[in-house]
Amino acid sequence: MYNFALALETIVSILFGYMNTNLLEIIKKRRSVRRFMDRELPEEMVNELVEALIWAPSAGNLQSRRFYFIRNRQLRDDLVVPAWGQNFIAEAPLAVVACADMRISAHYGDRGTDLYALQDVAASVQNLLLLACSHGLATVWVGAFDEQGVAQALGLPEYLRPVAIVPVGYPAEQPRAPRRLSHDKAVVFID
Ligand SMILES: Cc1cc2nc3c(=O)[nH]c(=O)nc-3n(C[C@H](O)[C@H](O)[C@H](O)COP(=O)(O)O)c2cc1C
Repeated sequence: MYNFALALETIVSILFGYMNTNLLEIIKKRRSVRRFMDRELPEEMVNELVEALIWAPSAGNLQSRRFYFIRNRQLRDDLVVPAWGQNFIAEAPLAVVACADMRISAHYGDRGTDLYALQDVAASVQNLLLLACSHGLATVWVGAFDEQGVAQALGLPEYLRPVAIVPVGYPAEQPRAPRRLSHDKAVVFID
């Protein structure tokens, strides 16, 4: 009995150890990709992207966020102008526009609308980037755009604030990893 429990524990720890290593590998492997192949995404993949978005944490689980999945080529073209000509948005087969829902986040007052709503969206977006990377898909987090222009192009209600645009597709380039801060510069350890 004891041996069985020990063996089980060993297997579980090996499995979890493997999963942890694997996740860190994906975190490090993910790059901002700005060239995409002309190839559609399978429907199951799109569904998994939705799952990754909705299972992110959120303040009070209010999920102050809405996502627009833009597969329509004309609409993706329309996003390029307010995104200051970043035309890879139109080249990817899917552009996800991640919005903060100010109506929901108002539950927490100014902190809700100024902070939590944006954090709710950011948590989802990072989930999306990592899941996409784990499937060999390419993404880039686009934050440089004119909000009014994007809202107008999509006909967003006034309570939705577009926070990020994420083109998703198959990579047509393999960018090198930009440098990161050293552990010591990034983190203050207080023991
Ligand atoms: C909030 C935010 C806004 C960003 N906006 C843009 C953008 O508008 N256009 C772009 O090409 N990349 C954008 N990026 C991607 C960054 O340039 C990129 O993450 C950074 O250079 C590090 O490279 P890496 O993602 O390959 O690690 C943005 C990233 C974040 C987190």
